Amino acid sequence: MFDVRLYGDPVLRKTAEPVEKFDDNLKRLVEEMNETLRAEDGVGLAAPQVGKSVKVVVIDTTNGEAEPVVLVNPVIVESSEEMITSEEGCLSVPGISLSVPRHAVVTVKAFDLNGKEFKIEKADGLMAKALQHEIDHLNGIMIVDHVSVLQRTMLSSKLKKMAKSGRDKSQVS
Ligand code: NI
Repeated sequence: MFDVRLYGDPVLRKTAEPVEKFDDNLKRLVEEMNETLRAEDGVGLAAPQVGKSVKVVVIDTTNGEAEPVVLVNPVIVESSEEMITSEEGCLSVPGISLSVPRHAVVTVKAFDLNGKEFKIEKADGLMAKALQHEIDHLNGIMIVDHVSVLQRTMLSSKLKKMAKSGRDKSQVS
């Protein structure tokens, strides 16, 4: 199982590299990400959150009932004009929940573990939210970037503390 990197860890701000080899290393990475997702009781996890700057995401909207969906090199190819704002948390920003506006419906193109391309057509609800949240992580974007300056100012001391502990953590691991 991986340690989840916290806000302030520079790896969370990098643009992740696309996966080129669909090999055993990728399978091992995904296995361990799935384990971490389960252990942390999360809906989704992006590779940068475990310190790996590659375009890999796992999502489980079933609360552990089904195997997580694995998305390699995912891209949003279509998104609804309609937006929905709802509360979101993030394993890398623990203890904080923010109102984040997201497209209500998205279609995502990605590759599976074997390098086969697939599409998630017109995802909505929690899946739409998770897809946008996790794909944001691959581009170095976090939930705090979606909120108003006022909201962020109110959070700033909490975030500063987290950034400090995130940095300390990244130095030792
Ligand atoms: Ni997150």
